[in-house]
This record gives sequence, C-alpha cells and structure tokens, in this order.
Amino acid sequence: MLIARSIPELRAALAGRRPAFVPTMGNLHAGHLALVHQARPLGDCTVVSIFVNRLQFLPHEDFDSYPRTWDADCAQLQAAGCDVLFAPRETDLYPEPQTFKVQPDPQLADPLEGQFRPGFFTGVATVVMKLFSCVFGATGGGTAVFGRKDYQQLMVIRQMVRQFALPIEVVAGETSRAPDGLALSSRNGYLSPQERQEAVALSQALHQLCDRWVAAQAAGTLHPAELEQQALDQLRARGWLPDYLAVRRRLDLQPATPGDAPGTLVALGAARLGATRLIDNREF
Ligand code: PAF
Repeated sequence: MLIARSIPELRAALAGRRPAFVPTMGNLHAGHLALVHQARPLGDCTVVSIFVNRLQFLPHEDFDSYPRTWDADCAQLQAAGCDVLFAPRETDLYPEPQTFKVQPDPQLADPLEGQFRPGFFTGVATVVMKLFSCVFGATGGGTAVFGRKDYQQLMVIRQMVRQFALPIEVVAGETSRAPDGLALSSRNGYLSPQERQEAVALSQALHQLCDRWVAAQAAGTLHPAELEQQALDQLRARGWLPDYLAVRRRLDLQPATPGDAPGTLVALGAARLGATRLIDNREF
C-alpha cells in the first residue's frame, strides 16, 4: 500500500488509473472496511483517504478529540487490500484558508443534520469536492463509495456530483451493524459500557417508527407528526436527548405524507446519549 501525503504524490501514483475511492476521517471500523471491500472491484486502484476535516465541525464539536488511530488504520487498510492511502496534512489540503466553499442546496442540506449542525454540509461538500479533485483530477473519473449510514450526506454528494457533472459514479454502501443492531460508527467508541448497551434504542425507535407508519397508513389513520412525536418521547423516556426523528422522502428528503408509498421513504434520527451524539436511519 502506497501512502501519499501530498496532492502531487497522490496524482503521480494515480496517473492513468481508474480509482475506486472511499473517503474517511480515519478511526476505521468494520463499516469502513466493508466499503473498501465494496470499492475494490469497482476500479483498478482502491484509494482511501484519511483526513479529519476541520470545516465540518462546529466550534463546540469534537474536532480536537476526534479519535486519530493512524497505526491501526494503516494495518487494517493494508489487510483490506487498499492500494493507495491518501492522508494529506492539513496544510496540504488547505494551504490557505478555504474561503471558496461548495454551498449545497438548502432544501437538501438545511433540515435534519443541517438544522442541528449548521454549516456541516458546506464543510462536507467542500472537502469532498477537493478530495475528488485530488483523486480524480489526474484520472478522468472513477467511482466513489459512501455509506448509507450518513444518508443525508450521501444525498448531498449525489446531487453535487450530478449538478456539477463530475465524472464520478457514486455508489452507496449498506450500513454495517453490530449483532444487536447498533450502526457502526467511530463515535460509538465514546460510549461507556452501560451506554453501549442502551445505544441500540435509537435503531429500535426508528424501526418501530417505520412499522407504525406502515400499519397506520394501511389503516388510513396516518398522522406523521404524531408518530414522530411518539418516537421522540420514547427515546426521551429512556434518558436520550433526541435532535430529530423524522420520516422523509428518500430522494429529496422532503417531509413524507400519508400519500407516499412505502418503499420510497426513510426514517432518520439523531440523538444524544450522555455526551455522545449518534445518528441512524432506516429505509422503508
Ligand atoms: O463521512 C465521513 O467520514 C466524512 O464526512 C467525509 C465524507 C470523509 C468528509 O470528511
């Protein structure tokens, strides 16, 4: 596995190749590695980036304490068959203040995560555009793999690629889950053993929200706001501080209505358990 620390090194390594690219912020777990395995047959060179992107953290968030596990990440990527690891220093990716930003469509980016983490998707879209330029700039295009766990992020990136006509195919990877159903996430490492046992309640609340939605729709008694409130109350009663639990249309993330067919919807949630903020979603 070649490790490229700068943009020229990366471009030299990728010239004439067709990369399959997995962007990450490191602290890799089985969910990331599943994306790497998914990426491998999609190009002739599997590229993973590790870069903790300051632009997507709010001042009070965990940029400084975000887990950085370089040696373990390298060993896992090597074993997973990654060909090129792109790990730029901050001064390589942002040699001057990144004042030119990619501004996502507010319809897609302002609700849900955007409401509770203002500017988050601008930070994500800006760094992903820059990473795409680094990885695909010298190659004429390729494939990028993003996990469905960050569902809204996936939709923002897909729209960015489409609207800027980037020569990149965005492929979605399924959410990897622990045996109890908890979605794998780097932030799960912040949970105490007791919180870890409780953490699956977010995924369960989303599951129940979907089941109740389908049953109420079939019975003709569907009141979206009531069901969403019930799910929020359910988590609050267990000691969580939920930001949102909402049912949206899969493609544009607009609020779902009783007329929307099952199979076109997604229930998304974000909630704090102690000091840890978790997100998850269920498509249905
Ligand atoms: O999903 C992530 O890990 C990050 O948001 C990403 C896409 C690597 C951009 O920093």
